[in-house]
Amino acid sequence: MDQHTLYIICYVWLGIAIAVHITMFFITAPFGRHTTTKWGPSINNKAGWIIMEAPSLLIMSYFLIFGTYSQESYAWIIFAFWIFHYINRTITYPIRIKATDKKMPLVIAINAIFFNLMNAGLNGYYLGELADPSLYGDEWLMNPRTWFGIFLFVVGMGINWRADHILINLRKPGETGYKIPKGFLFDWVSSPNLMGEVIEWTGFAIMAWNLPALTFAAWTFANLVPRAKNHHDWYKQRFPEYPEKRKAIFPYIF
Ligand SMILES: NC(=O)c1ccc[n+]([C@@H]2O[C@H](COP(=O)([O-])OP(=O)(O)OC[C@H]3O[C@@H](n4cnc5c(N)ncnc54)[C@H](OP(=O)(O)O)[C@@H]3O)[C@@H](O)[C@H]2O)c1
Repeated sequence: MDQHTLYIICYVWLGIAIAVHITMFFITAPFGRHTTTKWGPSINNKAGWIIMEAPSLLIMSYFLIFGTYSQESYAWIIFAFWIFHYINRTITYPIRIKATDKKMPLVIAINAIFFNLMNAGLNGYYLGELADPSLYGDEWLMNPRTWFGIFLFVVGMGINWRADHILINLRKPGETGYKIPKGFLFDWVSSPNLMGEVIEWTGFAIMAWNLPALTFAAWTFANLVPRAKNHHDWYKQRFPEYPEKRKAIFPYIF
């Protein structure tokens, strides 16, 4: 596949992200607290996370190892950040979440597998097979923009991990219900984990500075902003004492 074709796929994929973004404000993705049996057969929640995130980890690892250009420049750094994130999301995170009797609709896992195949496929193929190695040479490494992107990525990942850690530990052993999270960035927003993830992939797009990376950042925003709003509305419905000034995902804004 040449670069022109890959760019066309990215633009179409971006268009779908906009449609999904709008739709998700009206249809809540049924996993986690929003899970339901109305969406057909379900699978174990932990297994669902591993199955749906694994393609992203495997595809990027494949292109890092076997890609024509992956190791001819500093592109390997970009791969390394992605793979580091997905080792957590595919292995550590599902192991750490507390087991409940909650299940995940199979259709959600299948959708997420497609989402990951597309995003990792576009990013891995571009970096491994299409990007001119001169794009990620010494100039790229010394560019302040690259370091700003790395900074945002690390800060976003730190927020995401810390917030996920707090949420996972709200339940004492044997508990399965929900509590109002407090402290850290929870005093400002309902879902700092999702905010962190948006910051992280925005940083990735700035670091990598290419169209597939921008496409993935846009998809992350498209997915997680409505999901945070769904979480926020759910908290307000469930807890009458829920803090008034708390926003869904961006402090003081939304
Ligand atoms: N890149 C993407 O497009 C994308 C898409 C989706 C998710 N993600 C990432 O995947 C992770 C999970 O997302 P999510 O929306 O499923 O997160 P979430 O609803 O915040 O849940 C995170 C974990 O904490 C538990 N939890 C959350 N709130 C709780 C509360 N008030 N009391 C007790 N336990 C609570 C959840 O249990 P339950 O499962 O039992 O609710 C789950 O195990 C996040 O880090 C997110 O950034 C990324």
